[in-house]
Amino acid sequence: MAEAAGQVTTQAATGALAGKVCVVMGVQNRWSIAYAIGEAMAAAGARLVLTYVDDRAKRDADALIGQVPDARGYACNVESDEELVALGEALGRDYGRVDALVHSIGFAPAAAMKGRFLETTRDDFKVTHSVSVYSLIAAARAVAPLMTDGGSITTLTYIGSERVFPQYKVMGVAKAALEATVRYLAADLGEERIRVNAISAGPLKTAAARGIPGFADMHGQLLEKTPLKEGFDAEKVARTAVFLAGAGAAAITGETLHVDNGYHAMGM
Ligand SMILES: NC(=O)c1ccc[n+]([C@@H]2O[C@H](COP(=O)([O-])OP(=O)(O)OC[C@H]3O[C@@H](n4cnc5c(N)ncnc54)[C@H](O)[C@@H]3O)[C@@H](O)[C@H]2O)c1
Repeated sequence: MAEAAGQVTTQAATGALAGKVCVVMGVQNRWSIAYAIGEAMAAAGARLVLTYVDDRAKRDADALIGQVPDARGYACNVESDEELVALGEALGRDYGRVDALVHSIGFAPAAAMKGRFLETTRDDFKVTHSVSVYSLIAAARAVAPLMTDGGSITTLTYIGSERVFPQYKVMGVAKAALEATVRYLAADLGEERIRVNAISAGPLKTAAARGIPGFADMHGQLLEKTPLKEGFDAEKVARTAVFLAGAGAAAITGETLHVDNGYHAMGM
């Protein structure tokens, strides 16, 4: 992303997302995938909206908002139906429409990421699915009425939904449910010309990833086993998010797209 003197260089008139209102949910800090997606969407000309879980998490989001003309931020804890409804109302009031929504949110209690998967408690299962899966349905419900000229909804998933990564535990089950949710939402919202897709990203060193014991091994394997040996970073995921939100992806919906240097294609 071109950055000059603390300013994201935007292609306000000519970029792939020129003039589109793009809402990116889930900025925790500078390393969040949502932050990279926000930067990339702004650089592609989007009118950028960021959300963060609460006002304590807004510092880094504010830093990006400060670099992008006309950008705004809103706090939204996705465990609260009221806050999701309020987000939809605020977007309606402040922008009148939304063109793209990115859901980059996931959470599992620390206890559920330790020990045996067999020991996952009912409460930990519930909160993991509430924050990581149900929130996509609720966010889509809040924002879809504002997608009056069609739209795009994109979420972030991980290959631990398809195969067992012993460290990923209940989060793998939640990501499988998230990918199924993408297909059901795509079927439901297609008549309104709203596309719904997931990016299955390779491992990136973010706050959420640091909560996964053994994450360093998962990250190490990526470089060892992928067809593309070059570095993998959030900017590459962000460029795919820009593509999915734009006209180039007009016929893509209900899809889970692997953006992982080709790791998913490998057996051994
Ligand atoms: N980092 C990776 O290796 C990787 C790989 C594939 C997919 N993903 C997925 O990407 C998404 C973003 O994660 P990240 O790696 O950028 O980490 P991150 O920690 O920067 O982002 C996770 C976000 O979820 C938010 N969140 C948690 N509980 C919330 C709640 N109740 N309400 C609102 N927001 C809440 C956090 O505040 C944070 O902003 C997640 O869905 C994650 O599973 C990450």
